[in-house]
Amino acid sequence: MCAKLQLIDRETRSVYMDANATTPLLVEVFNAMMPWYLSRVGNASSGHTHGRAVRAAVEEARQQVADLIHCNRLELVFTSGGTEADNLAIFGTVTEPGAHIITTSIEHHAVLHAVERLEQHGCTATYLPVGENGQIQIDDLRRALRPNTRLISVMMANNETGVLQPVEEIGRIARDRGILFHVDAVQAAGKVPIDVKKIGCDLLSISAHKMHGPPGIGALYVREDINLVPMFYGGGHELGRRAGTENVAAIVGFGKAAEIALNGFYDGSVTKLEHLRDELERRLLHEIGDAGVNGARAPRVLNTVNLWFGGVEGPRLLRQLDEMGLSVSGGSACTAGLCLPSHVLLAMGLSIQKASSSVRFSLSKQTTAEDVHFAICQVSGAIEQLRATSSSRC
Ligand SMILES: Cc1ncc(COP(=O)(O)O)c(C=O)c1O
Repeated sequence: MCAKLQLIDRETRSVYMDANATTPLLVEVFNAMMPWYLSRVGNASSGHTHGRAVRAAVEEARQQVADLIHCNRLELVFTSGGTEADNLAIFGTVTEPGAHIITTSIEHHAVLHAVERLEQHGCTATYLPVGENGQIQIDDLRRALRPNTRLISVMMANNETGVLQPVEEIGRIARDRGILFHVDAVQAAGKVPIDVKKIGCDLLSISAHKMHGPPGIGALYVREDINLVPMFYGGGHELGRRAGTENVAAIVGFGKAAEIALNGFYDGSVTKLEHLRDELERRLLHEIGDAGVNGARAPRVLNTVNLWFGGVEGPRLLRQLDEMGLSVSGGSACTAGLCLPSHVLLAMGLSIQKASSSVRFSLSKQTTAEDVHFAICQVSGAIEQLRATSSSRC
Protein backbone atom coordinates (compact mmCIF):
# COMPACT_ATOMS: atom_id res chain seq x y z
CA MET A 1 0.00 0.00 0.00
CA CYS A 2 2.83 2.39 0.92
CA ALA A 3 4.94 1.50 -2.15
CA LYS A 4 2.03 2.32 -4.44
CA LEU A 5 1.43 5.61 -2.67
CA GLN A 6 5.08 6.59 -2.97
CA LEU A 7 5.07 5.95 -6.71
CA ILE A 8 1.95 7.98 -7.33
CA ASP A 9 2.46 10.79 -4.88
CA ARG A 10 6.15 11.27 -4.34
CA GLU A 11 6.57 13.78 -7.15
CA THR A 12 3.42 15.76 -6.53
CA ARG A 13 2.52 15.71 -2.87
CA SER A 14 3.96 17.74 -0.09
CA VAL A 15 2.76 17.51 3.48
CA TYR A 16 3.45 20.01 6.25
CA MET A 17 3.76 18.45 9.71
CA ASP A 18 5.60 21.20 11.54
CA ALA A 19 2.74 23.02 13.25
CA ASN A 20 4.79 23.67 16.39
CA ALA A 21 7.05 25.86 14.23
CA THR A 22 4.07 27.70 12.79
CA THR A 23 0.50 26.88 11.74
CA PRO A 24 -1.27 27.75 8.49
CA LEU A 25 -3.50 30.82 8.66
CA LEU A 26 -7.18 29.86 8.57
CA VAL A 27 -9.33 31.41 5.83
CA GLU A 28 -11.76 32.77 8.45
CA VAL A 29 -8.83 34.50 10.17
CA PHE A 30 -7.58 35.97 6.90
CA ASN A 31 -11.08 37.20 6.04
CA ALA A 32 -11.39 38.91 9.41
CA MET A 33 -8.03 40.65 8.91
CA MET A 34 -8.42 41.73 5.29
CA PRO A 35 -10.64 44.83 5.75
CA TRP A 36 -8.07 46.22 8.21
CA TYR A 37 -5.48 46.20 5.43
CA LEU A 38 -7.66 47.23 2.49
CA SER A 39 -10.61 49.39 3.38
CA ARG A 40 -10.51 50.45 7.01
CA VAL A 41 -8.17 53.00 8.45
CA GLY A 42 -7.52 54.67 11.77
CA ASN A 43 -5.34 54.72 14.84
CA ALA A 44 -6.88 53.21 17.98
CA SER A 45 -5.61 56.21 19.97
CA SER A 46 -7.51 58.75 17.82
CA GLY A 47 -10.74 60.13 19.24
CA HIS A 48 -12.54 60.54 15.89
CA THR A 49 -15.00 58.10 14.29
CA HIS A 50 -12.33 56.12 12.43
CA GLY A 51 -10.15 55.86 15.52
CA ARG A 52 -13.05 54.77 17.71
CA ALA A 53 -13.93 51.99 15.23
CA VAL A 54 -10.35 50.72 15.40
CA ARG A 55 -10.40 50.84 19.20
CA ALA A 56 -13.64 48.83 19.21
CA ALA A 57 -12.09 46.16 16.93
CA VAL A 58 -8.96 45.93 19.09
CA GLU A 59 -11.02 45.59 22.26
CA GLU A 60 -13.32 42.96 20.72
CA ALA A 61 -10.23 40.94 19.77
CA ARG A 62 -8.80 41.42 23.27
CA GLN A 63 -12.02 39.95 24.69
CA GLN A 64 -11.81 36.96 22.31
CA VAL A 65 -8.22 36.24 23.42
CA ALA A 66 -9.18 36.77 27.09
CA ASP A 67 -12.01 34.23 26.71
CA LEU A 68 -9.49 31.61 25.53
CA ILE A 69 -7.45 31.82 28.73
CA HIS A 70 -10.25 32.95 31.06
CA CYS A 71 -8.90 36.29 32.18
CA ASN A 72 -10.18 39.83 32.30
CA ARG A 73 -9.67 41.62 28.96
CA LEU A 74 -7.70 44.42 30.63
CA GLU A 75 -5.18 41.91 31.99
CA LEU A 76 -3.92 41.25 28.44
CA VAL A 77 -1.03 43.12 26.84
CA PHE A 78 -0.63 42.65 23.09
CA THR A 79 2.98 42.01 22.05
CA SER A 80 4.81 41.15 18.83
CA GLY A 81 4.62 37.42 19.66
CA GLY A 82 5.59 34.77 22.17
CA THR A 83 9.22 35.86 22.37
CA GLU A 84 8.33 39.39 23.39
CA ALA A 85 5.67 38.15 25.82
CA ASP A 86 8.25 35.90 27.54
CA ASN A 87 10.83 38.71 27.65
CA LEU A 88 8.27 41.17 29.01
CA ALA A 89 7.21 38.73 31.73
CA ILE A 90 10.83 38.26 32.85
CA PHE A 91 12.36 41.72 32.41
CA GLY A 92 9.11 43.39 33.48
CA THR A 93 9.04 41.72 36.90
CA VAL A 94 12.63 40.89 37.84
CA THR A 95 14.09 44.34 38.37
CA GLU A 96 16.20 43.87 41.53
CA PRO A 97 19.85 42.99 40.74
CA GLY A 98 20.18 40.33 43.46
CA ALA A 99 16.94 38.49 42.66
CA HIS A 100 16.72 34.74 42.16
CA ILE A 101 14.75 33.12 39.33
CA ILE A 102 13.67 29.50 38.97
CA THR A 103 13.11 28.10 35.52
CA THR A 104 13.71 24.75 33.79
CA SER A 105 16.41 23.36 31.55
CA ILE A 106 13.88 22.68 28.78
CA GLU A 107 12.38 26.14 28.28
CA HIS A 108 12.26 27.83 24.90
CA HIS A 109 15.25 30.11 24.26
CA ALA A 110 12.93 33.12 24.60
CA VAL A 111 12.94 32.32 28.34
CA LEU A 112 16.39 30.74 28.73
CA HIS A 113 18.31 33.54 27.03
CA ALA A 114 16.31 36.23 28.86
CA VAL A 115 17.15 34.59 32.21
CA GLU A 116 20.82 34.24 31.19
CA ARG A 117 20.82 37.97 30.43
CA LEU A 118 19.55 38.70 33.95
CA GLU A 119 22.33 36.50 35.36
CA GLN A 120 24.86 38.70 33.56
CA HIS A 121 23.34 41.63 35.48
CA GLY A 122 23.64 40.27 39.00
CA CYS A 123 20.65 37.93 39.29
CA THR A 124 20.98 34.23 40.06
CA ALA A 125 19.01 31.43 38.46
CA THR A 126 18.20 27.77 39.07
CA TYR A 127 17.46 25.61 36.02
CA LEU A 128 15.35 22.68 37.20
CA PRO A 129 16.25 19.34 35.63
CA VAL A 130 13.66 17.05 34.04
CA GLY A 131 13.34 13.29 34.25
CA GLU A 132 13.36 10.98 31.25
CA ASN A 133 9.63 11.67 30.83
CA GLY A 134 10.40 15.37 30.32
CA GLN A 135 8.69 16.64 33.47
CA ILE A 136 10.17 18.52 36.40
CA GLN A 137 9.94 17.09 39.93
CA ILE A 138 7.96 19.22 42.36
CA ASP A 139 10.42 18.35 45.14
CA ASP A 140 13.25 19.84 43.06
CA LEU A 141 11.21 23.04 42.80
CA ARG A 142 10.60 23.14 46.56
CA ARG A 143 14.32 22.63 47.22
CA ALA A 144 15.25 25.42 44.79
CA LEU A 145 13.12 28.07 46.57
CA ARG A 146 15.09 30.84 48.30
CA PRO A 147 14.00 33.84 50.36
CA ASN A 148 14.94 36.09 47.42
CA THR A 149 13.19 34.02 44.71
CA ARG A 150 11.25 36.61 42.75
CA LEU A 151 9.97 34.62 39.75
CA ILE A 152 9.25 31.04 38.71
CA SER A 153 8.98 30.60 34.93
CA VAL A 154 7.86 27.18 33.68
CA MET A 155 6.38 26.34 30.30
CA MET A 156 3.00 24.61 30.04
CA ALA A 157 3.78 22.46 26.98
CA ASN A 158 7.20 21.82 25.52
CA ASN A 159 7.61 22.80 21.88
CA GLU A 160 9.73 19.74 20.98
CA THR A 161 8.08 16.89 22.87
CA GLY A 162 4.66 18.34 23.73
CA VAL A 163 5.18 17.22 27.35
CA LEU A 164 2.98 19.11 29.83
CA GLN A 165 4.30 20.41 33.15
CA PRO A 166 2.30 20.30 36.42
CA VAL A 167 1.57 24.02 36.29
CA GLU A 168 -1.32 23.98 38.76
CA GLU A 169 0.86 22.38 41.43
CA ILE A 170 3.60 24.94 40.74
CA GLY A 171 0.99 27.71 40.90
CA ARG A 172 -0.09 26.60 44.41
CA ILE A 173 3.52 26.60 45.65
CA ALA A 174 4.24 30.01 44.11
CA ARG A 175 1.09 31.50 45.64
CA ASP A 176 1.82 30.07 49.11
CA ARG A 177 5.31 31.58 49.02
CA GLY A 178 4.29 34.92 47.46
CA ILE A 179 6.49 34.32 44.41
CA LEU A 180 5.47 35.47 40.93
CA PHE A 181 4.70 32.64 38.49
CA HIS A 182 5.06 32.97 34.71
CA VAL A 183 3.80 30.28 32.33
CA ASP A 184 4.94 30.10 28.72
CA ALA A 185 1.76 28.66 27.20
CA VAL A 186 2.71 29.36 23.57
CA GLN A 187 2.53 25.66 22.64
CA ALA A 188 -0.47 24.89 24.83
CA ALA A 189 -2.98 27.52 23.73
CA GLY A 190 -5.71 26.05 21.57
CA LYS A 191 -4.59 22.48 22.39
CA VAL A 192 -5.23 22.38 26.14
CA PRO A 193 -7.95 24.37 27.94
CA ILE A 194 -6.28 27.24 29.82
CA ASP A 195 -7.71 28.99 32.86
CA VAL A 196 -5.23 31.40 34.40
CA LYS A 197 -7.10 31.43 37.72
CA LYS A 198 -7.04 27.62 37.94
CA ILE A 199 -3.33 27.56 37.13
CA GLY A 200 -2.78 30.31 39.69
CA CYS A 201 -0.23 32.12 37.55
CA ASP A 202 0.54 35.83 37.50
CA LEU A 203 1.82 36.00 33.92
CA LEU A 204 1.16 33.79 30.88
CA SER A 205 2.45 34.07 27.29
CA ILE A 206 0.63 33.08 24.11
CA SER A 207 1.32 33.57 20.40
CA ALA A 208 -1.14 33.74 17.48
CA HIS A 209 0.87 31.92 14.82
CA LYS A 210 0.92 28.71 16.86
CA MET A 211 -2.89 28.56 16.74
CA HIS A 212 -3.70 29.37 13.11
CA GLY A 213 -3.43 33.12 13.56
CA PRO A 214 -0.93 35.49 11.93
CA PRO A 215 2.76 35.65 12.94
CA GLY A 216 4.06 38.75 14.70
CA ILE A 217 1.33 39.05 17.31
CA GLY A 218 1.05 37.56 20.78
CA ALA A 219 -0.09 38.49 24.24
CA LEU A 220 1.02 38.48 27.83
CA TYR A 221 -1.54 37.95 30.57
CA VAL A 222 -0.55 40.13 33.51
CA ARG A 223 -2.65 39.67 36.67
CA GLU A 224 -4.34 42.95 37.41
CA ASP A 225 -2.40 43.84 40.57
CA ILE A 226 1.05 43.16 39.10
CA ASN A 227 3.22 46.19 38.62
CA LEU A 228 4.86 45.45 35.27
CA VAL A 229 7.86 47.54 34.22
CA PRO A 230 7.58 48.10 30.45
CA MET A 231 10.36 47.26 28.00
CA PHE A 232 9.27 49.91 25.46
CA TYR A 233 8.72 53.58 26.21
CA GLY A 234 6.65 55.95 24.11
CA GLY A 235 2.89 56.45 24.13
CA GLY A 236 0.58 55.10 26.80
CA HIS A 237 -0.59 52.13 24.72
CA GLU A 238 -1.71 48.90 26.40
CA LEU A 239 -2.34 50.83 29.64
CA GLY A 240 1.28 51.95 29.73
CA ARG A 241 2.61 48.39 29.61
CA ARG A 242 3.77 48.30 25.96
CA ALA A 243 4.21 51.47 23.93
CA GLY A 244 3.65 51.47 20.17
CA THR A 245 0.73 51.80 17.74
CA GLU A 246 -1.32 48.60 17.72
CA ASN A 247 -1.00 46.20 14.77
CA VAL A 248 -4.75 46.23 14.22
CA ALA A 249 -5.12 43.62 11.44
CA ALA A 250 -2.91 41.16 13.31
CA ILE A 251 -4.78 41.77 16.58
CA VAL A 252 -8.13 41.20 14.86
CA GLY A 253 -6.73 37.98 13.31
CA PHE A 254 -5.45 36.87 16.71
CA GLY A 255 -8.92 37.45 18.19
CA LYS A 256 -10.58 35.37 15.46
CA ALA A 257 -7.98 32.59 15.83
CA ALA A 258 -8.57 32.56 19.61
CA GLU A 259 -12.35 32.32 19.10
CA ILE A 260 -11.89 29.38 16.70
CA ALA A 261 -9.40 27.74 19.06
CA LEU A 262 -11.87 27.97 21.94
CA ASN A 263 -14.66 26.49 19.80
CA GLY A 264 -12.27 23.66 18.89
CA PHE A 265 -12.72 22.21 22.38
CA TYR A 266 -16.44 21.77 21.67
CA ASP A 267 -16.77 21.19 17.90
CA GLY A 268 -14.69 18.01 17.74
CA SER A 269 -11.70 19.47 15.89
CA VAL A 270 -9.34 19.07 18.85
CA THR A 271 -10.48 15.46 19.35
CA LYS A 272 -9.95 14.74 15.64
CA LEU A 273 -6.43 16.14 15.90
CA GLU A 274 -5.68 13.84 18.83
CA HIS A 275 -6.95 10.77 16.95
CA LEU A 276 -4.75 11.61 13.96
CA ARG A 277 -1.67 12.09 16.18
CA ASP A 278 -2.38 8.82 18.00
CA GLU A 279 -2.79 6.98 14.70
CA LEU A 280 0.49 8.42 13.39
CA GLU A 281 2.32 7.44 16.57
CA ARG A 282 0.83 3.94 16.78
CA ARG A 283 1.49 3.06 13.14
CA LEU A 284 5.02 4.49 13.03
CA LEU A 285 5.93 2.42 16.09
CA HIS A 286 4.28 -0.61 14.50
CA GLU A 287 5.97 -0.23 11.08
CA ILE A 288 9.45 0.76 12.27
CA GLY A 289 11.55 -1.29 14.68
CA ASP A 290 14.11 0.20 17.05
CA ALA A 291 12.16 3.42 17.64
CA GLY A 292 10.44 5.06 20.59
CA VAL A 293 8.52 8.12 21.78
CA ASN A 294 10.40 10.85 23.65
CA GLY A 295 8.30 11.70 26.70
CA ALA A 296 6.06 8.65 26.27
CA ARG A 297 5.21 8.38 29.96
CA ALA A 298 4.11 11.97 30.48
CA PRO A 299 0.91 13.80 29.56
CA ARG A 300 1.45 15.55 26.22
CA VAL A 301 -0.35 18.07 24.01
CA LEU A 302 -2.51 16.27 21.52
CA ASN A 303 -0.88 17.39 18.27
CA THR A 304 2.75 16.42 18.92
CA VAL A 305 4.81 13.26 18.84
CA ASN A 306 8.59 13.20 19.02
CA LEU A 307 10.21 9.89 18.06
CA TRP A 308 13.79 8.60 18.06
CA PHE A 309 14.86 6.13 15.38
CA GLY A 310 17.84 3.86 16.03
CA GLY A 311 20.55 3.55 13.37
CA VAL A 312 19.79 6.73 11.42
CA GLU A 313 21.43 10.15 11.35
CA GLY A 314 18.74 12.74 12.04
CA PRO A 315 19.90 15.44 9.60
CA ARG A 316 20.11 12.86 6.75
CA LEU A 317 16.65 11.57 7.61
CA LEU A 318 15.20 15.08 7.59
CA ARG A 319 16.81 15.87 4.23
CA GLN A 320 15.48 12.63 2.80
CA LEU A 321 11.97 13.28 4.13
CA ASP A 322 12.08 16.79 2.74
CA GLU A 323 12.96 15.41 -0.69
CA MET A 324 10.09 12.94 -0.30
CA GLY A 325 7.64 15.76 0.37
CA LEU A 326 7.34 15.69 4.15
CA SER A 327 8.23 18.74 6.26
CA VAL A 328 8.97 17.85 9.87
CA SER A 329 11.61 19.06 12.29
CA GLY A 330 14.49 17.29 13.96
CA GLY A 331 16.19 16.79 17.28
CA SER A 332 19.11 18.98 16.35
CA ALA A 333 19.40 22.58 15.26
CA CYS A 334 21.82 23.16 12.37
CA THR A 335 23.46 26.50 11.66
CA ALA A 336 26.31 27.04 9.21
CA GLY A 337 26.83 23.31 8.79
CA LEU A 338 27.14 22.69 12.54
CA CYS A 339 24.36 20.59 14.10
CA LEU A 340 23.76 20.76 17.84
CA PRO A 341 21.47 18.24 19.50
CA SER A 342 18.35 19.63 21.15
CA HIS A 343 18.89 20.92 24.71
CA VAL A 344 15.44 19.54 25.57
CA LEU A 345 16.18 15.96 24.53
CA LEU A 346 19.64 16.04 26.14
CA ALA A 347 18.06 17.31 29.37
CA MET A 348 15.73 14.27 29.26
CA GLY A 349 18.83 12.07 29.32
CA LEU A 350 18.95 11.04 25.65
CA SER A 351 22.40 10.32 24.21
CA ILE A 352 23.67 12.76 21.56
CA GLN A 353 23.10 10.06 18.94
CA LYS A 354 19.53 9.36 20.05
CA ALA A 355 18.68 13.06 20.36
CA SER A 356 19.92 13.83 16.89
CA SER A 357 18.07 10.84 15.41
CA SER A 358 14.80 12.25 16.77
CA VAL A 359 12.02 13.73 14.68
CA ARG A 360 9.15 15.95 15.80
CA PHE A 361 5.83 15.50 14.05
CA SER A 362 3.40 18.29 14.90
CA LEU A 363 -0.06 18.28 13.37
CA SER A 364 -2.34 21.22 12.71
CA LYS A 365 -6.11 21.45 12.36
CA GLN A 366 -5.59 21.16 8.61
CA THR A 367 -3.81 17.79 8.83
CA THR A 368 -5.87 15.02 7.21
CA ALA A 369 -5.95 11.23 7.52
CA GLU A 370 -4.34 11.11 4.04
CA ASP A 371 -1.49 13.31 5.29
CA VAL A 372 -0.94 10.92 8.19
CA HIS A 373 -0.92 7.93 5.86
CA PHE A 374 1.53 9.72 3.54
CA ALA A 375 3.83 10.54 6.47
CA ILE A 376 3.84 6.95 7.72
CA CYS A 377 4.77 5.65 4.25
CA GLN A 378 7.48 8.23 3.66
CA VAL A 379 9.07 7.85 7.10
CA SER A 380 9.12 4.06 7.01
CA GLY A 381 10.46 4.14 3.42
CA ALA A 382 13.18 6.67 4.25
CA ILE A 383 14.32 4.82 7.37
CA GLU A 384 14.44 1.50 5.54
CA GLN A 385 16.65 3.09 2.84
CA LEU A 386 18.94 4.87 5.31
CA ARG A 387 19.39 1.77 7.44
CA ALA A 388 20.10 -0.34 4.35
CA THR A 389 22.75 2.10 3.08
CA SER A 390 24.41 2.50 6.46
CA SER A 391 24.60 -1.30 7.02
CA SER A 392 25.92 -1.93 3.48
CA ARG A 393 28.67 0.64 4.15
CA CYS A 394 29.98 -1.27 7.21
C1 LIG B 1 7.32 27.38 23.90
C2 LIG B 1 7.59 28.58 23.03
N1 LIG B 1 7.75 29.78 23.61
C3 LIG B 1 7.96 30.89 22.90
C4 LIG B 1 8.05 30.84 21.52
C5 LIG B 1 8.28 32.10 20.74
O1 LIG B 1 7.08 32.49 20.10
P1 LIG B 1 7.10 33.46 18.83
O2 LIG B 1 7.54 32.63 17.66
O3 LIG B 1 5.69 33.93 18.70
O4 LIG B 1 8.04 34.56 19.13
C6 LIG B 1 7.92 29.60 20.87
C7 LIG B 1 8.07 29.50 19.42
O5 LIG B 1 8.41 28.45 18.88
C8 LIG B 1 7.67 28.44 21.65
O6 LIG B 1 7.52 27.24 21.09
